[in-house]
Amino acid sequence: MDQVRELLAKFNSRFHSTAKVYRAPGRVNLIGEHTDYNEGFVLPAAIGFSCWVAIAPRSDRKLTLYSENFNESVEADLDNLKVHATGKWTDYPLGVAWALEQAGYRLCGANLYILGQVPLGAGLSSSAALEVSAGFALMHLAKHSIPLNELALLCQRAENEFVGARCGIMDQFVSCHGRAGSAMLLDCRSLDFQLLRLPPKVHLVICNTMARHELGSSEYNIRRSQCEEGVHQLSKALPGIRALRDVSLADLEEHRELLSDVVYKRCRHVVTENARTHWAAAAFESGEIATLHQLMADSHRSLRDDYEVSCRELDIMVELAMQQRGVLGARMTGGGFGGCTINLVQAVESDRFCERVAEGYQAAIGRRPDIYVCEASNGAGIAEPG
Ligand code: GLA
Repeated sequence: MDQVRELLAKFNSRFHSTAKVYRAPGRVNLIGEHTDYNEGFVLPAAIGFSCWVAIAPRSDRKLTLYSENFNESVEADLDNLKVHATGKWTDYPLGVAWALEQAGYRLCGANLYILGQVPLGAGLSSSAALEVSAGFALMHLAKHSIPLNELALLCQRAENEFVGARCGIMDQFVSCHGRAGSAMLLDCRSLDFQLLRLPPKVHLVICNTMARHELGSSEYNIRRSQCEEGVHQLSKALPGIRALRDVSLADLEEHRELLSDVVYKRCRHVVTENARTHWAAAAFESGEIATLHQLMADSHRSLRDDYEVSCRELDIMVELAMQQRGVLGARMTGGGFGGCTINLVQAVESDRFCERVAEGYQAAIGRRPDIYVCEASNGAGIAEPG
């Protein structure tokens, strides 16, 4: 049975009615890390793992949410959604319902059956996939049409204000707008984006370190504050700047004495990473794939040494990847402190790559990594039975 029919059958046996199904994907970021909340540039792609939501209306203003992953059901009242994070999966869909209503979109009561297939806690944006799929489903059910940019921004608002994570716009945006076969160069200030065809015969190979270090979310918010501190100090000499996006490497070097050593390093990562993201986009466009190897290696080093968001598992996974044949680039991807690496690998070499890296990682860390060979996929949408 195909995915959608199976979900409809499960919905029916739980809620005894027919439903519609929506999906939204996770993402992998090729380059441009920790630049989104600095109003800079990112180069992500939506991946083939999605969160699926089956939904049908209720006659009251209640939401009943069932998660197959957690085998848990909760009920909430649309007239009484409290901005109060519980630390559970329900914060994401309820946060989105709250943000949509706050923006003036009146929703209707609904039963939702949620099935997440994006690996949880792996840094592949399972939470953005859940937010966007739930938001899309709730909006369609209430017969509102909403521009995808606004949906992405409201999902980000849910995560910032309801869940309490100060993430940027990248994950929700690419989950909305991703396109099969393409990565996306996104300007996180204007939200203009350009789709870049990925080279044929190249696989996106994602290696999951299976490590997730607890300090991840608090360190993330600390990095954001350090960037804000950098802008605050630099603006004394550069009054026109609004974000690190506006600072060149020459400006940064010239006014280095305004910054503490740590803040200087954080700023240097962001400023150089923005430049690398542009070069990488140009390399994709011109087909000069060889340049990517250097850019991705420099990005990883900068995240490890200047931004200090890598960890031993990620560094080992990248080192192992660099030793394999057919590797066009390798680096950590996402927020860091565990999670995954992204590797661009020639299709003919990808089986061997997966075997070798898995063996090497197991020998070094004592744990078998999950490795996913992905394709760039389409963003959120309604899912019809096949
Ligand atoms: C997380 C956040 C994104 C982005 C990345 C780092 O995935 O959700 O907004 O900041 O980290 O690039």
